[in-house]
Amino acid sequence: MRILSGVQPTGRLHLGNYFGAIQQHLALQDEPGNECYYFIADYHALTTVKDAQALRENTHEVALTYLALGLDPQRTTFYRQSDIPEICELAWMLSTVTGMGLLERAHSYKDKIARGIRPSLGLFYYPVLMAADILIVKGEVVPVGQDQVQHLEMTQDMAGYFNSTYGREVLVRPEWRLSKVPKVPGTDGEKMSKSYGNTIPIFADGKALKKAVMGIVTRPIELGQPLPIEDDNVLGLYRLFASKEETAEMEEAYRQGSIGYGHAKKQLLERIDAYFAPAREKRRELEKDPSTVEDVLRDGAARAREVARETLEECRQACGLDGRL
Ligand code: ADP
Ligand code: TRP
Repeated sequence: MRILSGVQPTGRLHLGNYFGAIQQHLALQDEPGNECYYFIADYHALTTVKDAQALRENTHEVALTYLALGLDPQRTTFYRQSDIPEICELAWMLSTVTGMGLLERAHSYKDKIARGIRPSLGLFYYPVLMAADILIVKGEVVPVGQDQVQHLEMTQDMAGYFNSTYGREVLVRPEWRLSKVPKVPGTDGEKMSKSYGNTIPIFADGKALKKAVMGIVTRPIELGQPLPIEDDNVLGLYRLFASKEETAEMEEAYRQGSIGYGHAKKQLLERIDAYFAPAREKRRELEKDPSTVEDVLRDGAARAREVARETLEECRQACGLDGRL
């Protein structure tokens, strides 16, 4: 099966990105028969990141994160979106068969504007570019978090519009796949997100990790009193790292009142720290040689570009942009 997914280089990746997306991306890479394409969506990030150096650094940061967590560039095609300019050309073709109404219904556009992001044309066009990312490599399955489902529905529609307009089955309708944890709670209980300032970064350690975990919002309950287990921000994160039995133990301690939030946070902190220790080590190695990371991306782009060129050629022929008579 051909799998594709992308992540925007807009900041340091966090536990929401890890459990909602990256973990699933890496698991799919390890399933036999899968051909994975993962990319860093830097064209997309231009809609919000307006500082060139920040964009370069964020892009490198995402590459480091995936490689340190186990992306294998031999098996998986890993690339930077802007190394495949064919994507933009396909996006233009798709935009000419897509109605305004479809884009006007996009939740993510409305949410971003509500958060104060300037409503540029690019921001509005974002779902078309995202559809082109997927359709250009004929991705069949797209692992994403819940917030991306509408974009996938739009991609399916756009593939259908293109094929029916030109009477050819050129583009493949992708399916989305949600991770087991489609919504990881942040330190304030809302969805963990870079934009809400409630994240625990994957590679935080030492004081920074401690500060993030100790800052998790909890209810004002006196030490020694039972703690409610529903909608608890500490337990919500602890479950992601602990086994069923360990979670049951922690829940029992909550019910008994034999654990306080400080202690529970400490246990969570230890879990996070231990879970990512090997990846942190690998990251340190990779950091020593930025050119290796760059080579991986260039090599991935060369492979992805071959596939992209083929699809684009088929699309150009379908629309009559091929100079044939
Ligand atoms: P952010 O909301 O921090 O800007 P992105 O929109 O860049 O994160 O998300 C990258 C990927 O991680 C997407 O597939 C998205 O669905 C997933 N993701 C982000 N935050 C969470 C979360 N809190 N829970 C589950 N998945 C998430
Ligand atoms: N829009 C996605 C996000 O914000 C990132 C993305 C861009 C993507 N292109 C994609 C995800 C293609 C999956 C497939 O998280």
